This record gives sequence, C-alpha cells and structure tokens, in this order.
Amino acid sequence: MSLLSVADLRLSFGGLVAIDGLSFSVGEAEIVSVIGPNGAGKTSAFNCVTGFYRPASGRITLRGRDLSGLRPSAIAGLGVARTFQNLRLFGELSVLDNVRAGSHLWLRQSVLDALLHTPRYRRSERECTEQAHHWLDFVGLRGDRYGQARALPYGEQRRTEIARALARRPDLLLLDEPAAGLNHGEKAEMLDLIRRIQALGVAIVLIEHDMGLVMEVSERVVVLNFGREIADGRPEDVRRDPAVIEAYLGGDPAVLEETAPGETVPEEKIAGQDSTGQGDPGKADSAGSDAHA
Ligand SMILES: Nc1ncnc2c1ncn2[C@@H]1O[C@H](COP(=O)(O)OP(=O)(O)OP(=O)(O)O)[C@@H](O)[C@H]1O
Ligand SMILES: [Mg+2]
Repeated sequence: MSLLSVADLRLSFGGLVAIDGLSFSVGEAEIVSVIGPNGAGKTSAFNCVTGFYRPASGRITLRGRDLSGLRPSAIAGLGVARTFQNLRLFGELSVLDNVRAGSHLWLRQSVLDALLHTPRYRRSERECTEQAHHWLDFVGLRGDRYGQARALPYGEQRRTEIARALARRPDLLLLDEPAAGLNHGEKAEMLDLIRRIQALGVAIVLIEHDMGLVMEVSERVVVLNFGREIADGRPEDVRRDPAVIEAYLGGDPAVLEETAPGETVPEEKIAGQDSTGQGDPGKADSAGSDAHA
C-alpha cells in the first residue's frame, strides 16, 4: 500500500479549474517531485492534501485512510507536515520557539498541567526545547536561535521552517519550492538536507522549479500543466517526454538536458512564467486560520 495516494483530484475556484484530474502516489521514504509552470496547480494540490482546500472530487488517502473532510490539524496529526512557498514563520517569535511550536503537536499536555506548571508540564517543555535544538542542528541552522525569526537571512528562515516541520515527526513532508531564492551553495545544502530527511524514513513530495535539484533527488516526477497531469515517471524519462518539453519548457529540450544539478531553468525559458503567481493559500476563502496548525 502507498503512503499517500491521490486519485483523480479536481479543484475549481469559481470558473477557474485549478486541478483537472491529478493522480499520483508516494511510497514510504520515497521522493516524488511535482513540477510544472506557474499556476499549474502544484501548491493547490498540496493545499488539498493538507486539508486547506476541499477538492471538488477525487480521493486522497494516507496509508489507505481517506483524508476527505479532515481538518488541517487532524491531517497534520496523522503524520503529514509541510512548508510554505511563502514562508510562514512567526516573525516576532524566536527561531527556537518557532520550532518548539512544531513539537507541541505530539507532546501530551493538558491545559491544567500548563496552568499549574506541574512537573509533567515542565518535563515536556524541556523535551520540546531539546527537540527544537536537535532539529535546528539537523537542518544546519547557523543563525541566532534566540533572536527573532524574521531577523534571519532568507535561506536560514527556510531551514527553520523545515526544522519546524520535522519537529512534528512526520512520515510525509511536503516541501513547496524549498530552493526558491537560495544561492548556489545553499541549493547544494538543500539537496543534501532533502536526502538526509529521506534517510530518516520520511517520504517527501517536492514542488520545485529548479530542474537540476528535481532531476538529482527525485525517484519519480509528476508534471502538471494547466491543472492537467501530463507525465508521471522516472526523472530520466520525464525529461525526454515530448509533451513535457513542449508544455513546460516551450519546446526547447536542451533546457532540461543541459540543466546540471543545482541549476535553475532560466525563467524566460519556462512557458507561462509570470512573476506574480505565488500560489499563496492565504488568498483563499477556504484557507482558514490553520496556516500554522
Ligand atoms: N485561493 C485561490 N483562489 C482563487 N484562485 C486560486 C487560489 N489558489 C490558487 N488559485 C489559482 O489556481 C491556479 C493554480 O495555482 P497554484 O498556486 O496551485 O499554482 P502553482 O502551480 O503552485 O504555481 P506557482 O509555480 O506559481 O507557485 C492558478 O490559476 C491560481 O491563480
Ligand atoms: Mg505554487
């Protein structure tokens, strides 16, 4: 049985069809990438899996369990964690507290424990802090852990968000463009980090425009174009698929063939690129206050 299975997913916003029949599955500790031009429906697919958006139809299951109708917090509790295309850290909180917020999901604390500061509460708070340090070490954070999250350089904020997601001890991690805005060296580190996360036994679904990274790290690649799935296969097959080259790269196969690991396909070569499509779930009516849940 797959860890995650998405079958014939459809999603519309008014008249706009954002996802038009998407099916893919992810095995335990597998890395699957979802690629496609801006506005193809990639982030929307993540929002359906995590319960932020309610699809019009289709079935999403986690180890065979149907996720439909579950709230984002319930889906997170089943072992699904994510990071956001537009970072969603609590900027005023310390870096450490942002990551501590991740561990609170699995710590057993009652309100009474917290109010009375019972030994059990103090013990679990200590454990939470230790875990946060552990995951910040794991992602290789170099910045000040006690300072405000927003004071960190961009690449370090991305790491912090991943540390927060890992603190939830997920079985499945959804990464929405983790390498966006990173420099060459940081991208190489991100590739290494993704592999180390996989080595923990965590499955990863990766949305990424950096073709070098995608081709290097993925076991399978799913390609979306205008909400439609046009390919699902091994990276070496997908990069040679004429439909993918035509739709995603505007007909220039050299772009994919020549993209080395850690390299980005030049934006002007990607069909349908626009600079505004951020796919921010925050703009949706259906996206509630669970953004940090
Ligand atoms: N909450 C929303 N309300 C209305 N339209 C939306 C909403 N979220 C996404 N869309 C639309 O759905 C389509 C798919 O958007 P989505 O953000 O999923 O694309 P994407 O593949 O993640 O693109 P990008 O690479 O730019 O992040 C786009 O046309 C987008 O404008
Ligand atoms: Mg997106």
